[in-house]
Amino acid sequence: MLVFTTVAALRCYLRSCQLGVDRIEQAVGLVPTMGALHAGHLTLLERARQQNSIVIVSIFVNPLQFGPSEDFQKYPRQLEPDRQLCEKAGVDVIFVPTPEEMGMNNGGVFTASVALTQVVPPESMTSVLCGRSRRGHFQGVATIVTKLLNLVQPTRAYFGQKDAQQLAIIRRLVADLNLPVEIVACPIVRESSGLALSSRNQYLRAQEKEEASVLYRSLRQAERAFLAGERSSAELIALVKLELAKVPSIELEYVESVDPTTLIPLDKIEEVALLALAARLGSTRLIDNILLRNRQPIVAIDGPAGAGKSTVARQVAQALGLLYLDTGAMYRAVTWLVLQSDIPIEDELSIAEIVCKCEIILRMSDETLAPVRVWINSQEVTQAIRSLEVTSQVSALAAQLSVRQELVKQQQLWGEKGGIVVEGRDIGTHVFPDAELKIFLTASVQERAKRRQQELKNQGEANLSLEQMQQNLVLRDWKDTNRDIAPLQKAPDSIEILTDGLTIAEVTDRIVSLYREKVEQG
Ligand code: DC
Repeated sequence: MLVFTTVAALRCYLRSCQLGVDRIEQAVGLVPTMGALHAGHLTLLERARQQNSIVIVSIFVNPLQFGPSEDFQKYPRQLEPDRQLCEKAGVDVIFVPTPEEMGMNNGGVFTASVALTQVVPPESMTSVLCGRSRRGHFQGVATIVTKLLNLVQPTRAYFGQKDAQQLAIIRRLVADLNLPVEIVACPIVRESSGLALSSRNQYLRAQEKEEASVLYRSLRQAERAFLAGERSSAELIALVKLELAKVPSIELEYVESVDPTTLIPLDKIEEVALLALAARLGSTRLIDNILLRNRQPIVAIDGPAGAGKSTVARQVAQALGLLYLDTGAMYRAVTWLVLQSDIPIEDELSIAEIVCKCEIILRMSDETLAPVRVWINSQEVTQAIRSLEVTSQVSALAAQLSVRQELVKQQQLWGEKGGIVVEGRDIGTHVFPDAELKIFLTASVQERAKRRQQELKNQGEANLSLEQMQQNLVLRDWKDTNRDIAPLQKAPDSIEILTDGLTIAEVTDRIVSLYREKVEQG
């Protein structure tokens, strides 16, 4: 693991990676932190390690985001334990610049005294929640994050859901400034008491830590009421306050219910709300939040080609009375369109143009178990997308950024209200990372080749040898697993089912009972 303190050294390293021996573009994951790393950060590091070839952690206590009366001087700085934790997590580089190195040449403790070009997020997002008391804080965050993103130019950057306002503002700045990075959010990690992990928990004495657990308990009270049908923000907020009042040492700063994307306050919660609070315990300021989602459950089924995902997903959907979405069919339909139009598969620019304009219609029949019917630009392609030609090209298309962005957007629209079984390669990891049940369906390549051969036979397609079939599958799996964007991976919280020797009915039953255990019975 390397430790850099200067921009010049970091840039030099990044250049050397780009010009690596194989000249293959390497995915870079950036985890921006202020140090004093804990188990919450560790999940960000692990996720970054899983998804990228190179993982860079920045440790910088950013003076721009501290107000004059805040804890900039006191904020815990502990490079050696941080270094050890990063080393263990398989981090490649730690970047630890000084304020001077980051262009804050007065080491500015006060935001206003730093002469620096700054990034100003929309007022509507910075004036609510923590922005009410922390003036200038989010401008400081937006500025430093933009600087780090520009310096490292990562493929992905990782942030915790605990700082939900920060996350929403960063997502917005990335969208508004067209920054070429994927923002990955990781769930809040909590102590067994429910207290959300935070570097500032170090300030708490044992008894205060115990008292602080009321924050999450109060949010859970509101969640319970929400799940029982309460939709009024005022009522839910009143419940939080009632619970907090049981611990007199807690001094509530705010509790608000806002739209998690725009941060606009909500009176009534139609689809989803971010219920967030900040409170003081002695001199320590703590924040916490919970997402309230009025959505039916989502079942995500991922796995390699030929593992039986589509048949199983369709049957699971039917058994549970949910909708079934075959995302592979969408990638296939786009591939068919590109092949039809004579655009070379490598011509990403022309493909981006047609993908953004194409209209895909999927019609799932809930009476029969027939495959989903597919139309692209009004032409039915249900059969055509299963041809050998489409199958052999689809992974190359599915690796292209514009194709994925467009199709993922459409898939997320399908899933907005939940109540859906979605099957593909990146559903549990990227499309619906908060799916209630995640399954990773797999089988040996021999078994999968046999199944695919049978499938082709049933469709009257050319008969490939078993060996050829296996080679095709291995190649497609390799492409799907090794692409930079949203590769095929088992989500850490998914349940793996190896389907060799199991009938479709057996696999379906297994998933249906997992659903009943995990989702219906909570
Ligand atoms: O499941 P299938 O064989 O119909 O999928 C066809 C291809 O589409 C697969 O090789 C990779 C791609 N795909 C993807 O990249 N992401 C998904 N969510 C679904 C499919």
